Amino acid sequence: MNLVNNLLITFGIFLIILIVPTGKAAPPEQIHLATSGNTNEMIIQWGTQEDTTFSCPSGSNVEYGIDSGELSQTATGDNDMYQWTTCVHTVKLTELSPNTTYYYRAGGGNEWSDVFSFNTLEEDPETITIGALADHGTSSNAQETTNNMANDEFDLVIHPGDISYANNAGAGNGWGDNTVWDEYQNQIETVASKYPHMYAPGNHEEDDDPYGFDAYETRFYNPGPNSFWYSFDYEFIHFVSISSEHDYDPGSTQHSWLQGDLENANNNRENVPWIVFFAHRPMYSSNGDGDGHGSEIEFREAMEPLLFQYQVDLAMYGHDHHYERTYPVFEENVYSTSSGNMSDAYYKPGAPIHIVAGNSGRSIYDGLEDPKPNWSAYRELSYGYTKFDVTKNSLHFKFIRNDDGSIGDEFWLYNFNVSDLMNDNSGSMMNNSLSSISLLHAIIGIGVVSVIKRKKQI
Ligand SMILES: [Fe+2]
Repeated sequence: MNLVNNLLITFGIFLIILIVPTGKAAPPEQIHLATSGNTNEMIIQWGTQEDTTFSCPSGSNVEYGIDSGELSQTATGDNDMYQWTTCVHTVKLTELSPNTTYYYRAGGGNEWSDVFSFNTLEEDPETITIGALADHGTSSNAQETTNNMANDEFDLVIHPGDISYANNAGAGNGWGDNTVWDEYQNQIETVASKYPHMYAPGNHEEDDDPYGFDAYETRFYNPGPNSFWYSFDYEFIHFVSISSEHDYDPGSTQHSWLQGDLENANNNRENVPWIVFFAHRPMYSSNGDGDGHGSEIEFREAMEPLLFQYQVDLAMYGHDHHYERTYPVFEENVYSTSSGNMSDAYYKPGAPIHIVAGNSGRSIYDGLEDPKPNWSAYRELSYGYTKFDVTKNSLHFKFIRNDDGSIGDEFWLYNFNVSDLMNDNSGSMMNNSLSSISLLHAIIGIGVVSVIKRKKQI
């Protein structure tokens, strides 16, 4: 009996240690930013490693200011946990001044992070720069992408899914090892603590029971209505994040929401002229090799009509581990065969350009379809990330290789017709909306069109 009693007492003490929180704060890590869309605000999130999965004694505070040595302003938020010991803290900073460097640290009590910084956008900016990457993970190639992005500059980064690859990773227990999420978010901290990152869910965000999408939903802020489909205006771009991992068929909640969102966005072009869509599985990809990758036909049939009807300009994806760009395309019909070069740019082409950017870290796929489909403008099997500079009228897109920082692919897209500009006798387009860079490119375009017209006359 004594032995049984001793065992019961030992087990009881073990249980108490396991479930009773110590009440002690933990050091902040995994610092990352997100945007509400309001560029006078910044969302700051981070994780703390707690003793249990249900109690988070660590503070949810941010101290910030414009002098790194004097963080005189404070903001407090809240925290959330899922069935894991990482507590996720979220604090929103408001009423930030434009074109300002803010220094900040996160935590509370005796546990504070290092001091990080971010820049707010200038008021009425001429150009904003967006970074995009997908299928990242924690490999050495992923680390290289992170390092290269840390040496580049952005205003905002979008990530269309397959983020950490925690699901089914290495735990040997039938569900994901959530330390991989912690490792990932520490790895990307150098970039994510500086620029807001916004995500779409990939297949690798869904884990076995009991987690499902809990890690994704808990760890990343969204401006609503939920983590899986949401949108926001960021200056002159309307971003729409969609889940290819949930019901997207006509009649589904997600499909109806997208229809309403795109209709409103398309009616608001005067204020927000661009629409950029991002989701994980690509509507167009020629990297198939019969393993369930390549173009996601069901997803395309369900949602491509909405992208076309409301004239989405650019659609970004991951899932296939390569880089690929389509011509402007709808239902596999190519709307322009321009190269996209500065002198052969796309002028309001009438259909979206689709990009696969699933080449930021996971092993490259080499199952390219041969011959190349007619809708595929360019594809490459190498690691890297993408970025695009946007003005009210122009979008200059680049794929940047990890190897040497060179540009693997680029194109220019304008949201007006050259003929509109030529017929615009009042000059209102030039006066009201064209930036000097757009104007220069448009003049080059007009020159090319004029030459073509003259040749045709001959
Ligand atoms: Fe994927």
